[in-house]
Amino acid sequence: MFSKKVLLALVGAAAVCVRAGPAAITDSSILQYALTLEELEDAFYSGALAKFDAAAFEKAGFEPWVRGRYEQIAQHEADHVAFLKGALGAAATAPCEYNFPYTDPKSFAALSMALEGVGEAAYLGAARFVEDKDTLTAAASILTVEARHAAWISSAVLKKQPWDGDFETPLGFSGVFSLASQFIIKCPDTNPALPVTAFPMLTVTPSKSLAQGSTVDLKFDNPNKTTPLYAAWYSGLQVTYTIVDTSANTTTVPDNLDGTVYVGVVSNKQTGPTSDAGMVTGLAILQFPFPSSAPN
Ligand SMILES: *[C@@H]1O[C@H](CO)[C@@H](O)[C@H](O)[C@H]1NC(C)=O
Ligand SMILES: *[C@@H]1O[C@H](CO)[C@@H](O)[C@H](O)[C@H]1NC(C)=O
Repeated sequence: MFSKKVLLALVGAAAVCVRAGPAAITDSSILQYALTLEELEDAFYSGALAKFDAAAFEKAGFEPWVRGRYEQIAQHEADHVAFLKGALGAAATAPCEYNFPYTDPKSFAALSMALEGVGEAAYLGAARFVEDKDTLTAAASILTVEARHAAWISSAVLKKQPWDGDFETPLGFSGVFSLASQFIIKCPDTNPALPVTAFPMLTVTPSKSLAQGSTVDLKFDNPNKTTPLYAAWYSGLQVTYTIVDTSANTTTVPDNLDGTVYVGVVSNKQTGPTSDAGMVTGLAILQFPFPSSAPN
């Protein structure tokens, strides 16, 4: 049996709404972080299924089994919440208020792919900080289910690539939270501080198409006037750094990016994928779809 302490979850929470942190990284604060993410996912799925019935899914062009599978995913997330609450007991975090920008089953499906991807990246990134081995096993057990969700949504529902490559991408606490916080309006004041720091939001806009070697515009606040700056591209276990031209706030898209890629602005090239050290902005998600005929 797994120990009562378990591990982590999904997509992130709110910079603006979490208590001043960061909290020390302990198994307990990792579980609180995980529960905050799972509660967000739980609200995301239950809210969408309450809003969009079978007729709405059909009208959006989905086969009837799509909504049925989403109901199963919603149940998984509710079970993860219950599991983590049980593990944390009185230290459990309470759900927040959320705002999910889905307007129909199509925009819900696209957003669900991003959430599942961030969720698995959160578990993977947190793994190295978990001390208790039973907690680690339970976390890995949730992680693999989130990865199955992500693959099913991406390939069966959205008809895109089922995976990004030969390695999954781990992300750190604050990077994950920078992505999740955009969906959080407010968390209860009584919730504990999480092991996250709020960084300015990053927006990435391709000048033309998003292709290797192309230029992208970066929009972000740099209150500390940090320089030099690099864009860190997180893809699998690799981090590729490109120089940010701070006179124009642009950078160049590196080679060899497939599927879902995360990018953030950092102050040095030693910033690892799971460390907050050197972060200047939160993360943005970019998609580099590739066909079945491509090498991967
Ligand atoms: C680049 O970003 C910095 C930090 O937000 C900002 O102060 C500056 O005006 C921007 N420069 C351009 C050319 O947009
Ligand atoms: C700016 O510097 C302050 C003080 O050192 C620090 O607390 C804050 O996290 C920094 N902000 C960013 C975006 O690096």
